[in-house]
Amino acid sequence: MMLNPLIHIQRYHCLIALLAIGCLGCEPTQQEAEALFTYGATTLAMTTVADSLDVPWEICAGPGGQLWVAEQSGKISRIDPETGIQQELLSLKDVYRQRTGGLLGMTLHPDMDASPYVFIAYVAKNAADQPVSRIVRYTYAGDTLAAPLEILEYAAWNGHYGARLVIAPDGMLMVATGDGAQHGNAQDVLVPHGKILRYRIDGSVPADNPIPGSPVWAWGLRNPQGLAYAADGQLYSSGHGDAIADEVNKIIKGGNYGWPVVEGFVDTDEERAVARDSIIQEPLRAWTPTIGPAGLALYESDILPEFRHSILLTTLKGNGLHVLKLDADGSRIMADTILFQQLFGRLRSICVTPDGDIYIGTSNRDWNPNGFAEARDDRIIRLSKATAQQLRKQKATPAAIANQSDVVSRGELLYTDYCASCHQGNGRGVEGVFPPLNQAGPVAAADADALIRLVLEGRGEMPAFHFLEDKELAIILSYVRKRFGPQASRVSRAEVAARRPAPASRQ
Ligand code: HEC
Repeated sequence: MMLNPLIHIQRYHCLIALLAIGCLGCEPTQQEAEALFTYGATTLAMTTVADSLDVPWEICAGPGGQLWVAEQSGKISRIDPETGIQQELLSLKDVYRQRTGGLLGMTLHPDMDASPYVFIAYVAKNAADQPVSRIVRYTYAGDTLAAPLEILEYAAWNGHYGARLVIAPDGMLMVATGDGAQHGNAQDVLVPHGKILRYRIDGSVPADNPIPGSPVWAWGLRNPQGLAYAADGQLYSSGHGDAIADEVNKIIKGGNYGWPVVEGFVDTDEERAVARDSIIQEPLRAWTPTIGPAGLALYESDILPEFRHSILLTTLKGNGLHVLKLDADGSRIMADTILFQQLFGRLRSICVTPDGDIYIGTSNRDWNPNGFAEARDDRIIRLSKATAQQLRKQKATPAAIANQSDVVSRGELLYTDYCASCHQGNGRGVEGVFPPLNQAGPVAAADADALIRLVLEGRGEMPAFHFLEDKELAIILSYVRKRFGPQASRVSRAEVAARRPAPASRQ
C-alpha cells in the first residue's frame, strides 16, 4: 500500500510547530478518508488499510494495535493499520486450497503475554492424499509462529468446511465446524462436523461439556462461518442455509439447531413433527432469499453509538454489512439494516478492535465465479469515527440504501407487539387455542381483502385492531404475508383505508 507523501510533510510541519510553540491549536494530522458515510447520527470514515490480499478470511485484533490476518492461501501475517505494512509470520506448507477450502478461521488468545497462542482452522491433505480439516494451535515467539499442536483432524470432503474459532470468556476454545456437505453429519453427535466444539487451550476436553468426553457443545449446524461473544458472555453464530434460511443463532450448551431436519424456523409439518420429539433451537433470524452470511462480530463500544449492542454480519452473496440490533438481553433482533450494499463486493471477515474501529475484509478473489475482483482486491477496510477535520473537508453519503428492508424490520417489531402474544413469534400459534398463521387461508390468499377485514374487525377471541393506523396495519400485514404467506403480495396503506367502515357508520 502506498503512503500519501503529503502526510509526512504535514507531520513534519506539525513537529516544527510543536517545537516552536508547543503545538497550540495544532490538530493531530489525519489521513483523508477515502469516503465518509452517515449511519443515523454517526459519520464513518472509510479507509483501505491493506490491499492486494488473497481473501483475508480472518482479521483479529492483536497486541500493540496490530491486525493479524489469515489469508485463504495459507499466509498468516501482521498488518500495521496505520502504515499498511504487512509482515509475514507463517506460510502454511500443507494447506489445501480448493473451492471453499484453504486457511479459514483464526483466533488469538486474549492474553498473548501469558499465553502466546494462535489457533487456526484449515483444510489440508493427509498422508493418504485425502482432504482433512485441521484445528491447530501455534505459539507466537520472536515474530514467527512455531510449535504446532494439533487439536483435531477430521475428514473433509468437497465443501461446508466452516470454520471459525473464538476464545470464550471462561478461557475455552470454541470452534464452529461445517457438516462437510454430508447429510447425516450435523445430527450425529459422534462426529465433529456441523457442530460447535469446546476445548481447553491445550486441546483436551473440559469435564463440563454436555456429552462426557466429547468436544461437542452444540449441533445441527450446516456451514457456520461466524462465531463471536457478546460482552454479556452470550455466543452467537451465523451460518449458510441450503436453498433457503441462512441463519443467525444464539448458541447454548447442548443446543440442537436443527439442520438438516429443520431449516430456519420450525414452520412445516415435517419440522413440527421433529420439534415434538426433540428440542430444536430456532434462529434469531433467518433469511430467504439467502444472503451468504460469513463473519460476525459484536459491537459493544460507545465510540460509534449507532452500532452499540449490535451483531455486525458480513455477507458474501449479499455484498453488504448487516447491522442486527439486539434487544437488552440479547435474545431478539430488533432491526436489520444493510450497509455498503454492492460497494466493496463480497465481504468475508470482520473485527472490532478495542478502540471501537471496525475492520472488514473482502472476499472477491475466492472461488466464486460471480466474483468481480478489482485491481486492489482483496482489501481490508477500516470504518472509524470521522474526525472533525474530515467532517469539515469531505462530503458524506448514507451508508444504507433508503427504504431497503425497513418495512420488514418495522413489521417484525409491530407483529411482536400486537400479534405474537397469541400467534407466537414464529407464527405457529398455540394448538387448539390460537391458530397458526403459516400458510393460513387469509394470509396466503392472492387477495388481501379477507385478512385486512379480519384484523380490522376481529373474530371470536381474536381482537379487532381498528385502533392501529392504516400505515401500521399495512406494515404488519405486509410482514405477515411475506413471512407466513410467503408468496403473498404486500398490503398498502390505501388498501387498509378502503376497508375501514365509513365515518357515519362508526357512531
Ligand atoms: C388475543 C389473542 C390474539 C391476538 C393478539 C391476535 N390474534 Fe389473530 N387470532 C386469534 C384467534 C383466537 C383466532 C381464531 C379466530 C376464530 O376464527 O375464531 C385468530 C385468527 C387469526 C387469523 C385467521 C387464521 C386462519 O387460520 O384463518 C389471522 C390471519 C390472524 N388471527 C392474524 C392476526 C394478526 C395479524 C394479529 C396482530 C395484528 C393477530 N392475529 C393478533 C387470536 C389473536
